[in-house]
Amino acid sequence: MTDYASLERQLSALLDTRDWLTNAAQTSAFLMHTLEDLNWVGFYLQRQPETLILGPFQGQPACNPIPFSRGVCGAAARTRETQRIDDVHAVPDHIACDAASRSELVVPVLVDGKVWGVLDIDSPRPARFSAEDQAGIERLCRIFIDASDL
Ligand code: SME
Repeated sequence: MTDYASLERQLSALLDTRDWLTNAAQTSAFLMHTLEDLNWVGFYLQRQPETLILGPFQGQPACNPIPFSRGVCGAAARTRETQRIDDVHAVPDHIACDAASRSELVVPVLVDGKVWGVLDIDSPRPARFSAEDQAGIERLCRIFIDASDL
């Protein structure tokens, strides 16, 4: 079982600048190397209205841009709620960037009630993310938000 309390302490120590770009890159790399069975981790940013633009990430080159109306990332931005998908093939408008992806967790990054972007995590293992993983990764995402000038 993943020790999220330990990961929270490590990520807090790692994010020692207020620069969001550095922190987003560090957070992506940290998650990719500490969580098991992942093939993609990264941020999409709302830099144009209702559109997600690819930001710092780890993994294969990815789809860009993603409108709020499409995909699991779009659903997270639209609903402002985490999307936890056990089987991406069962989601009709899932956007397949990396054919290896089988399950996905997308956490909205909200700042003052506005969608700054999303944190997207993909796994090659079906149902990789439990409710406990969701809660832990949401806390790690909160550490990124609190550590950064967004
Ligand atoms: N699968 C996502 C697209 C982004 S990639 O997974 C990196 C989606 O359906 O929104």
